[in-house]
Amino acid sequence: MSGSARVVLGVTGGIAAYKAVEVCRRLVDAGHHVSPIMTAGATRFVGETTFSALASEPVQRSLWDEDSPIPHTRLGQGADVVVVCPATARLLADYASGRSADLLTATLIATRAPVVVCPAMHTEMWEHPAVQANLTTLRDRGVVVVEPEAGRLAGGDVGHGRLADPERIVSAVLAAITTADLAGLHVVVSAGGTREPIDPVRFIGNRSSGKQGHAIAAAAVRRGAEVTLVTTQPSSAPAGPAVVVVETAAQMHRAVVDAADGADVVVMAAAVADFTVADTADHKIKKADGVPTITLEPTVDILAELGASKAPGQTLVGFAAETDDVAANARDKLVRKGADLLVANDVSAPATGFEHDTNAVVIHSVADALEVPLSAKSAVADRVLDAVVAHRLRSPGSSDR
Ligand code: CTP
Repeated sequence: MSGSARVVLGVTGGIAAYKAVEVCRRLVDAGHHVSPIMTAGATRFVGETTFSALASEPVQRSLWDEDSPIPHTRLGQGADVVVVCPATARLLADYASGRSADLLTATLIATRAPVVVCPAMHTEMWEHPAVQANLTTLRDRGVVVVEPEAGRLAGGDVGHGRLADPERIVSAVLAAITTADLAGLHVVVSAGGTREPIDPVRFIGNRSSGKQGHAIAAAAVRRGAEVTLVTTQPSSAPAGPAVVVVETAAQMHRAVVDAADGADVVVMAAAVADFTVADTADHKIKKADGVPTITLEPTVDILAELGASKAPGQTLVGFAAETDDVAANARDKLVRKGADLLVANDVSAPATGFEHDTNAVVIHSVADALEVPLSAKSAVADRVLDAVVAHRLRSPGSSDR
């Protein structure tokens, strides 16, 4: 599945319950329908209202307080995935032994969807043989366990048992429901803005944060591809791809051309400088020396070069960040640079483009134009990869131009 999923989010009574708020928010932002279930213990740590406000529907707490007499089968059968975050030792024990103690455990037993549990507890409890035996039982049944981390625990203690980072939990949930439709493919993604040095301390750059390219690389990994990410923003790169760090347009050119050799899909999401400094100074230019003249020279257009020498069967995706005549400029770049798909965004529109976590794009091919309304960059990433898969099905082994 790469579209919107129905996620049941079970929250149990642990101090880490507050982190489930962030997991809920991220799943909703990524376009998924989240139905929260809280145990009685969970409501002692986080307000029901918080989840009801952030999730896609109000919190369910009991087997008895919904209009339907069987809420657990409605939630369990309707789910694409059930995630329990945090999962206490009690929840793990009830679930492992098949004990239907409340709405959450009843739903876990009623569902046939993938289940992800995210244990969080004190180190002594985590290490207890009974807890580990329950986890072994659950793993043997196919339940995904997102291992806790070492760190600060409640009451000032430090040790193993702290709930995993929300990003890891969301990745595990999405992985559990994702079809590996890119398995066997090598996908190259470029991301971030290049920097062209003027002298050792100054550069010409742009406002690209790399977020959209990174989201595409992460989604491609989730969908089973082998991914090479060429980025200028390594500190925010996702886990999973092989990362090549570059800074300048010339370095980006070399790294992308190397990686693209033999690749099945190349996505040029990077904002590559069109011009670089012809005579970079090897010392800091001093103010006292007067207003400097900086001479620029053109860089190689990487996308156009790849488009001109594209191997049969390779799918080439370009981006176009525009402020005017977005559609016309995008279609012109699609044809001129020899891309198969061109993802256009209006960077002057609210909440789209540089630095935002959301984007709104139109994916152009020669045949059509698909509008993706304002969504999380992770959701836009999946729509771009859906278009890649559709293009490859339409024109296997060749370009459709
Ligand atoms: N691109 C590239 N190499 C360059 C410049 C751009 O590969 N030297 C790629 C970008 O990664 C993107 C696409 O070309 O996929 C369009 O980039 P954009 O900056 O929008 O286009 P330009 O060709 O620079 O055109 P203009 O500045 O006129 O908008």
